[in-house]
Amino acid sequence: MKKRILTGIKPTGQIHLGNYMGAIKPALELAKDEQYDAFYFIADYHGLTRTPDPEEFKELSYGIAATWIALGLDYEKSVFYRQSDIPEVFELNWILACYASKGLMNRAHAYKAIVDENKKNGNDLDDGVNMGLFTYPILMAADILLYNSNTVPVGKDQIQHVEIARDLAQTFNKKYGATFNLPEYKVDADTAVLPGLDGRKMSKSYNNTIPLFSDEKKLLKLIKKIKTDSSLPGEPKDPDQSNLFSLYKQFADAEQIAEMRTAYEQGISWGEAKQQLFEVMNEALREPRERYQELMGNRDKLDQILKEGAEKARSIATPMMKDIRTKIGL
Ligand code: ADP
Ligand code: TRP
Repeated sequence: MKKRILTGIKPTGQIHLGNYMGAIKPALELAKDEQYDAFYFIADYHGLTRTPDPEEFKELSYGIAATWIALGLDYEKSVFYRQSDIPEVFELNWILACYASKGLMNRAHAYKAIVDENKKNGNDLDDGVNMGLFTYPILMAADILLYNSNTVPVGKDQIQHVEIARDLAQTFNKKYGATFNLPEYKVDADTAVLPGLDGRKMSKSYNNTIPLFSDEKKLLKLIKKIKTDSSLPGEPKDPDQSNLFSLYKQFADAEQIAEMRTAYEQGISWGEAKQQLFEVMNEALREPRERYQELMGNRDKLDQILKEGAEKARSIATPMMKDIRTKIGL
């Protein structure tokens, strides 16, 4: 049997270039790898812990689905679905919750970070913590274990969550016999952190992003906003210290990169470097952007794709849950 890779993407903001380079591009490559069956889903229940506005939440969920397909996810070959279309994940969530100690949740980074922040500010320690956020790692364990996933590609911040899933799987297996695979995380160490407009990590939390599917005008406008130093046209510039160059490298081919490196050393103006970046980026994103717009205009098609994905997912989840229920004596 092929190994299963699984990852979830939260609909919490417009997809930006950092998400693409750091998460989507590597995951799409894994999905093409013949040794894996890929399970990719929209983690909308996890997105709910931020209690979003309903209309915006819905748009973001469709946006995520359209983005992945526009960028080349083969939804017929892989299992691509909405988390909230799988009732079994909740059933398993509750069962796992009964085997997860509260102490384990107390130690989870995201929750701990909020508590530490509250402590620092002299607030009530539970300020801003809802139970969805507190038990977030259990639902994530249910996502992973329900399909007996082997490999979970994630960013560094999610490693602990995959370890919790592994812990819970072990606890369950020990009590009831071999049931769950022990999942392993896969963190792409080579993935660069893409800088945002202000030079910090590109992140929706910093409001410094370039949305992946900005239209041409907006893309050019945002590129012009990227911070540079005050060196003048004609002055040599160090490409390895430049955000513009880091972005350029993500979209250009080897020859273009080499030429641009020389241009920097020979003192290309920042204005010209920005124009060149726009051109290479715009070219690379043109087709996916069109596909994205087309899909966003066809919600029925997106619903249909996700529905078929959910059916595939449930054909695995249902017998799995049956086995689990029998084992625990329900
Ligand atoms: P954000 O920081 O915008 O809130 P998320 O935390 O939702 O983004 O990250 C979603 C995925 O995108 C994660 O796998 C994360 O590692 C990746 N990612 C986010 N920002 C960047 C960046 N600037 N460079 C590389 N990868 C990133
Ligand atoms: N927590 C993940 C994130 O914030 C999203 C997620 C939910 C996930 N369930 C998952 C990732 C299962 C991998 C496996 O990015």
